[in-house]
Amino acid sequence: MVSVGSAVPDINVSNQQLSQLVDTSDEWITARTGIKNRKILGTNQSLVDLAVKAAENTLSKSSIKPEEIDLIILATSSADDLFGSAGQIQKRIGASNAAAFDVTAACSGFIVSLIIAHQFLATRTYNNILIIGADVLSRWVNWLDRNTCILFGDAAGAMLLKSSSPDNLLGFKLKTNGKNNHDLVLPQTSKYKKFTSDLTIVQGGYNYISMNGREVYKFATSEVPKIIQNTLELIDMVLTQVDWLVLHQANKRILKTIADKLGFPNDKLISNLELYGNTSAASLPLVLDEAIQDNKIKTNDIIVLAGFGAGLTWGAVVVRVRCSTKIIIKFHSLENSNNSYSFEVNKTMIF
Ligand code: COA
Repeated sequence: MVSVGSAVPDINVSNQQLSQLVDTSDEWITARTGIKNRKILGTNQSLVDLAVKAAENTLSKSSIKPEEIDLIILATSSADDLFGSAGQIQKRIGASNAAAFDVTAACSGFIVSLIIAHQFLATRTYNNILIIGADVLSRWVNWLDRNTCILFGDAAGAMLLKSSSPDNLLGFKLKTNGKNNHDLVLPQTSKYKKFTSDLTIVQGGYNYISMNGREVYKFATSEVPKIIQNTLELIDMVLTQVDWLVLHQANKRILKTIADKLGFPNDKLISNLELYGNTSAASLPLVLDEAIQDNKIKTNDIIVLAGFGAGLTWGAVVVRVRCSTKIIIKFHSLENSNNSYSFEVNKTMIF
């Protein structure tokens, strides 16, 4: 069983605001990317704060208690702690019995984590797994570099998985091309500290995101259609059986080109990047959560999820969705007022 949830920060940065920082315009950004707005984390908040909100939102839509979670996988490339932030989330949500670790695979991080989680479920090693995709790339872009600062936003999304029979994760494929790693990097800085004549140390630190936009564009629009097609072939399915394409929300032109190359109808392409920009590892659970809440994705729908990004890494997963509705009944007893009942409807997704 799966429930999906998300969390986004409050601060909006519009294209208009960006045009005051760098030589760009709302027209240019909208035409080239489809992005109108992105949200960024405030100075007093951390990646873990955002990830915890997404995890709690996800848990609130399921009947699974935090202590029943066996494993937490945090997909992020912008952890608060280079040693990993999953442990802090485990503590904050009270998942006292869960093992927890980080996975770094940039914008493919959520797909990679979903596949890792599925292996543990398929082998019956674990029963309940929480995967979280969270990134705060606003802290790692150069806000004076117009090639990159227009693209990224901050967010977190999460998914709770339970093993099911039959297995509704129907197939997957993952690929990496390290030869083109240099096209999208967040590289270490090389600050040398000479302590003695024969001891020089490289001091850790990171630079800004650096990207060859045209090459990344070419990579995504050539490789993602192929991997989707190959994943479907692997499980003897064809594209006409697919109800929705849920792609990493990088750029509207990339999404449209991928759909067009596959001959897939554009109105079956799920997208919300206009409001949030590219939220890296968070983009897939964030857009899925919205699509389920909006009643777009329904029970028995077949969806293809695909991620792509730095590494270069890319992957696709085919899933049969089952949606159910969890109704929470709250009893309010207010002083100086009549007692009243309220009903809250939450959508839950079951793979
Ligand atoms: N505003 C205005 N002009 C800009 C600009 C901006 N924000 N960024 C670049 N330009 C300029 C360039 O300097 C260039 O000018 P020139 O012709 O005088 O040299 C011109 O616009 C065209 O640049 P180009 O890089 O060819 O634009 P593009 O059509 O490829 O669009 C991207 C640029 C970044 C939007 C596009 O390449 C892209 O989306 N790439 C994929 C990026 C991505 O999704 N990365 C994350 C993957 S997970």
